[in-house]
Amino acid sequence: MKKLFCLILVLCLSLAAVSALAETGITIDNIRDYVVGLDTPVKLSDGTSRPLINFDNAATTPALKPVLDEVNEKLLMYGSIGRGFSIKSDYSSELYSSTRKKVLKFVNANSEKYTMFYVNNTTDGLNKLASALITSKDDVVLCTRMEHHANDLSWRERCKVIYAEVDKQGRIIYEDIERMLKENKVKYVAVTAASNVTGYVTDVHRIAKLAHQYGAQIVVDGAQIVAHRAFSMKGETPEEDIDFFVFSAHKMYSPFGGGAVVGIEEVLNDHMPTFYGGGMVELVSDKEVSWKSAPERYEAGSPNYPGVVGLGKAIEILQEVGFDAIQAHEQKLIHRLIDGLKKLPNVVLYGDCENVDDRVGVVSFNFSDINSMMLATRLAQVGAATRRGAFCAHPYVWRLMGIADEDVITFEGCIDAKTPGMIRASFGIYNTEAEVDEFLEMLQKAMEHVKNNLTDKDEDIPQEY
Ligand code: ALA
Repeated sequence: MKKLFCLILVLCLSLAAVSALAETGITIDNIRDYVVGLDTPVKLSDGTSRPLINFDNAATTPALKPVLDEVNEKLLMYGSIGRGFSIKSDYSSELYSSTRKKVLKFVNANSEKYTMFYVNNTTDGLNKLASALITSKDDVVLCTRMEHHANDLSWRERCKVIYAEVDKQGRIIYEDIERMLKENKVKYVAVTAASNVTGYVTDVHRIAKLAHQYGAQIVVDGAQIVAHRAFSMKGETPEEDIDFFVFSAHKMYSPFGGGAVVGIEEVLNDHMPTFYGGGMVELVSDKEVSWKSAPERYEAGSPNYPGVVGLGKAIEILQEVGFDAIQAHEQKLIHRLIDGLKKLPNVVLYGDCENVDDRVGVVSFNFSDINSMMLATRLAQVGAATRRGAFCAHPYVWRLMGIADEDVITFEGCIDAKTPGMIRASFGIYNTEAEVDEFLEMLQKAMEHVKNNLTDKDEDIPQEY
């Protein structure tokens, strides 16, 4: 009887999988029809309403309609994952584990070598991974000065971290990585696949080869790459393979709290995360605990089913749209924005703005005569979403702005318009060249507005950032 039931369940799931994989007809040209909330008007400071121009996609992305529909549909069959005795529980558990295969395929990870565990987001994943991999305060991790805090502090707070520098344009200095690997007994190299400040794409396979040559392993922060470029754990040679890769679903059009750590199964089985609870154990007695192997030992607590469902669907849609089309579209937007910004007086652009081939859709800038906080605030008031500040990558931003480390400490307790920062425009697959043009017009008007509306109380706010 149980066998028959299992057969029916597998049949249902296969049919569901086939229909889910059926092409939706979504392309880079019609993607705007499939973005949740794109046409939703927001009330502006002058009382009028309009939909936002959303250039804050490096922070988070809106849901895609098929992703939301999938979450809603699959919630009809939601039951306790890996714990329950019910048809819904079996259905949810099967979907949960089949999505693992989809995630592994998405990053071209061979399932005989790699496994993956679900996390809430990249920060959660990097912390869980670091908590497992770091076994001594004396372990040495090599980071870069380009890192988001998630891929810096997760290590810095647990062991010794050394940093490879970036050059004047903000690119990682690969020779520095090699030199530091030579001079230190590095256990892990932790590097971002793409910067959330300049959008530079890192040659992670080159770094993997170096790391392996010197006996280290490589952890890649994938938060800013997964919605922009195809990513492969596999290099051209085995030495170039990536060991660990971490990413968030909310940066790829599924803001339901999903994310993943993909890693070498054998290594994950040799370690334990310092995060405990049910679901990760075989058996607990008064004194003893026997742990499950990876991935379950990394997934204490009830899993985030909507997060996993959304992640699986987002992968399908991105693959259907195609990363070649995404990259080509994004390059058009970067060029158009940079060209437009260059025409504005006193603009300061960060990163290489001549050769942008190695940049995903992130453009950070300033005006030397306008306070960036005031400008970003004005842009928000008129309906353009950007991010302003140091983007959780403070050491990198200070370097790009030419601010010395000894001066940084003076900003403490003053995270406001007086603190230096940049404005960042970051693109999603649904942004258009027309939006870039409109943004540039809004920007010019916002600059005028800020300049014309300074009051006495703004006197001590620096205008030069
Ligand atoms: N890390 C995200 C960003 O860069 C939140 O905005």
